Amino acid sequence: MSVRTFRTLLLVGVLALLAGCTGPWPQSALHPESDVAANLDRLFQNIFWWAVLVFVVVETLLLYVILRYRDRPDRPHPTQVHGHTTLEIGWTLAPAVILVFIAIPTVRTIFEVDGPPRDDAMVVEVIGKRWWWEFRYPEEGIVTANEATIPVGRTVDWRLRTEDVLHSFWVPRLGGKRDLVSGRENRLWFTPDSTGTYMGQCAEFCGIAHALMGLRVHVVEPDAFEAWVESQRAPAESPEDPLAARGEEYFLNSACIGCHRVRGTHAAGTVGPDLTNMGSRRTIAGGTLGNTPENMARWLRDPQGVKPGNLMPDLGLTDEQIDMLVAYLESLR
Ligand code: CUA
Repeated sequence: MSVRTFRTLLLVGVLALLAGCTGPWPQSALHPESDVAANLDRLFQNIFWWAVLVFVVVETLLLYVILRYRDRPDRPHPTQVHGHTTLEIGWTLAPAVILVFIAIPTVRTIFEVDGPPRDDAMVVEVIGKRWWWEFRYPEEGIVTANEATIPVGRTVDWRLRTEDVLHSFWVPRLGGKRDLVSGRENRLWFTPDSTGTYMGQCAEFCGIAHALMGLRVHVVEPDAFEAWVESQRAPAESPEDPLAARGEEYFLNSACIGCHRVRGTHAAGTVGPDLTNMGSRRTIAGGTLGNTPENMARWLRDPQGVKPGNLMPDLGLTDEQIDMLVAYLESLR
């Protein structure tokens, strides 16, 4: 290795280390905000410090041996040995003991986080699609996409399945990750302990737009959650704004309704996200863009340019049609 390569590697290593020092990053598992995430973090810290201890002991011994027994002029050849029973038993037993130290808390944590959720847990069904998330609240009668809202302090029982390929549900600060597997339902639960918006990401490679399959979990006070449920349950109202009203008319008579649903209208497609409350979401296109009129227009103009591979076709909309549709979609709250 040349000196230059070595320096570059060192710099990259130091930068990577420094990157871990700041935060909390939006997707940092080191800043837990739920019981399960805190449990996993405790386990990580525990094992991490044991690993640090092992590293320090091993490296100290290594450096000592390298320096103390290095070759020097006039040094005679060392005595040749063949095996050292005590030493061999020692270095077999030591790792075994270390593994026991790691296994006990690991197995305990697995049982704690994998056990069934509490009986009063709220069920949220998660359906993975290429490349977005559908959230269904069966008890509340709500369907939404890419952004789940849950109340703080209440256990959520996530029921995970996929409609196509493998995906993986992961909101690092709250819990996960757990795969969405074809033909079966996986479960995951956690109780968020502070309000806020937590970012998540599909954590299983699922195709071309895998990296753009983000999600958000809004953790809100119980009152705010009740209000959110009420607003989500209400069917969409026809907009009063003339431009948005023209957008509604266009939407309801176009190909859009083949894939999208808007409750309270005859749009009942299920291929794409339910758009009943589109205007109230913070992002569009599976978390790819912030939900602004400009971004919505960009998306409608060139969905494949924004998120290559997604299932939304380029409908060849004119600027006028795009303006109407943007006004309509943003009015759906
Ligand atoms: Cu879905 Cu990666």
